[in-house]
Amino acid sequence: MLRFISAGESHGESMVGILEGLPAGLTIDVGFINKELARRQLGYGRGGRMKIEKDAIHILSGIKGKKTIGSPVSFSIKNKDFKINVLPSVSEPRPGHADLSGALKYGFTDIRCVLERASARETVVRVAAGSICKILLREFGISIKSTRISVGGQTSFKKIKEIIDIAKNKGDSLGGVFQVQAANVPVGLGSYVHYDRRLDARLASGLMSIPAIKAVEFGAGFESASKLGSEIHDVIKHSKSKGFYRMTNNAGGLEGGMSNGEIIVARCAMKPIATLGSPLPSVHIKTKKQVKASVQRSDISAVEAAGVIGESMMAIVIADAFLEKFGSDNLKQIKKHYKSQ
Ligand SMILES: Cc1cc2nc3c(=O)[nH]c(=O)nc-3n(C[C@H](O)[C@H](O)[C@H](O)COP(=O)(O)O)c2cc1C
Repeated sequence: MLRFISAGESHGESMVGILEGLPAGLTIDVGFINKELARRQLGYGRGGRMKIEKDAIHILSGIKGKKTIGSPVSFSIKNKDFKINVLPSVSEPRPGHADLSGALKYGFTDIRCVLERASARETVVRVAAGSICKILLREFGISIKSTRISVGGQTSFKKIKEIIDIAKNKGDSLGGVFQVQAANVPVGLGSYVHYDRRLDARLASGLMSIPAIKAVEFGAGFESASKLGSEIHDVIKHSKSKGFYRMTNNAGGLEGGMSNGEIIVARCAMKPIATLGSPLPSVHIKTKKQVKASVQRSDISAVEAAGVIGESMMAIVIADAFLEKFGSDNLKQIKKHYKSQ
């Protein structure tokens, strides 16, 4: 079983992660991980923080030379903007963020104690762990990529740039839709036998766990609800060279909670960023008086970055299901199991 946990506050000293359950013998390409971390920082509409940080992984354990040794891989990523102890306290919860529910839950009157961890800065650790999982998956020809589909309902980059600039000038924000897909996934990852072994459920959980993701669909997803069965189900074919394959991929590569050998396709809807330059009305956490929500340094839109995080969540879930099926102690053995399928 592949397990992953993160720690770290947005303006704390470092973000840290532990990835456990990797096989021994996997060569870790740090350059690739750092390139993936850089991809998470990109996209039109990002805020000032991404100009400050230059994320780089520092691996602390689980590797000898460049190879994994089967023990937990732990790592850190420094926050250049380390200033948690001198930042002012926050009393005006932002609608759409974790601020109010988090403060009430943990009994804080300083919302900073919530927002430091609720911040999407945490996702840098997911991308580091996800990149390591991608390194494992590419040993078996599995590749994962994402594309931005739309921002604020617009699809052309020119229009997207325009509406992001308008939103920025008005102190507003935007969400959007991105797609993540995994190619070359073998048939039979996940299972229909239990709810918690279903690959679609595990992928949905991983993708929904990304901050601000409010809907996830696979393949034709919501559209399939208005179609006839004969229009939507993917006809099965067979050829000597391809084996079993489908004429279409409306199922998004998933049937019965298992991969079916076609490309896994997920689409995610991201709500607009919660922090607004022209803040919405809110209530002061101590005085209970009407105030404006707090304004923190913020992105206007972060759909491409969310796509990169989506790739990582998909890589973590697929790597976990892959190791379940093909064994997990060492890479050589896994390759044997994989070839013998
Ligand atoms: C890549 C990425 C960047 C984000 N940047 C910001 C940001 O700068 N400001 C902000 O208020 N929310 C940002 N968010 C969204 C919040 O983290 C998220 O809305 C908040 O944690 C509340 O969680 P929820 O939206 O899932 O309910 C970002 C999310 C992602 C995935």
